[in-house]
Amino acid sequence: MVLQEEINRAAAILHDGGLVAVPTETVYGLAADARNPQAAARVFAAKERPHSHPLIVHLTDFSQAAEWAREIPAEARQLAEVFWPGPLTLILKKRPEVLDIVTGGQDTVALRAPRHPVAQALLQAFGGGLVAPSANRFTRISPTTAAAVQSELGDRVDMILDGGACEVGLESTILDLSSGQLRILRPGMISPQQIAAVIGRDVQVMRQDFPAEVRAPGMHHLHYAPETRTELISAARLQILTAAELPAVYLYHHEIPSELHAQVTAVKMPANAAAYAHELYAVLRAQDQQQFQRIFIETVPDAPEWDAIRDRLIKACGKF
Ligand code: TXA
Ligand code: MG
Repeated sequence: MVLQEEINRAAAILHDGGLVAVPTETVYGLAADARNPQAAARVFAAKERPHSHPLIVHLTDFSQAAEWAREIPAEARQLAEVFWPGPLTLILKKRPEVLDIVTGGQDTVALRAPRHPVAQALLQAFGGGLVAPSANRFTRISPTTAAAVQSELGDRVDMILDGGACEVGLESTILDLSSGQLRILRPGMISPQQIAAVIGRDVQVMRQDFPAEVRAPGMHHLHYAPETRTELISAARLQILTAAELPAVYLYHHEIPSELHAQVTAVKMPANAAAYAHELYAVLRAQDQQQFQRIFIETVPDAPEWDAIRDRLIKACGKF
């Protein structure tokens, strides 16, 4: 439970240019005043994040979008009516006064209204836009609990609001509406099919193998990675383990080999995509802290509701 008194203290810290970790329905964010360049610079320093990776501006609702975007296409409004507040980030052409440090010098700005009640209360109390990247150090797994924020950022953050475990568990879907072609730059639990159903036309999904200039910085291959070497596998792979790969952990949602190696710990994941997403980062973070040589993860179903999860799993393996 977060008290109004704590929200007010957090808002005061933000007005003074400080950093507050805040729960959202996706992951915890590292919030700062989006109109204060020194505060935004502190966010990059705390995360050890390169300035080429721009920040999402968080708003209470769509009525604030015009303060940040100079063009608001009808489709942005339609999508916000259905999905805001919620895990959908919209990329729009920015107004000239939006800080370069927030947008990475690009002509666009990323906007999202989170639906977590603590994030909403903080935005209301603060009264303006808050940048809030995931509250982890660069390339690491996003935090989905206050304890995970503490272990990622420690005293680099002035205050952590504890809103419990994040409901969705994966970062928001990022949709680029700044050019004629609608493109998903980062898949999330709001799917291209759901978006297409609202606007009545198809949406392109960007893939890792697209040319660098059209990729979202979030598609960086080092994102979301544990320290332990991680592999996406089918159960049969566990029959051919080498000594160097042991001990290992196996995260499965479906199949477990009848004879599991004594040095492989099996951890059951939910078979339902939403429940799997909700747990994934906490499980990865916990297993990464054990002394395993490998984190093996069973490949997930080739179905649309698993697309965002598969994207993060591929990235978790991408470090090696
Ligand atoms: O669910 C979320 O979106 C969480 C919560 C805290 O709201 N935030 C989050 O922020 O994931 P962050 O900074 O970790 O990821 C934002 C992604 C980055 O990959 C960034 O490069 C991309 O959004 N991004 C931001 N502004 C952009 C822009 N103008 N054009 C393209 N990509 C942009
Ligand atoms: Mg992030």
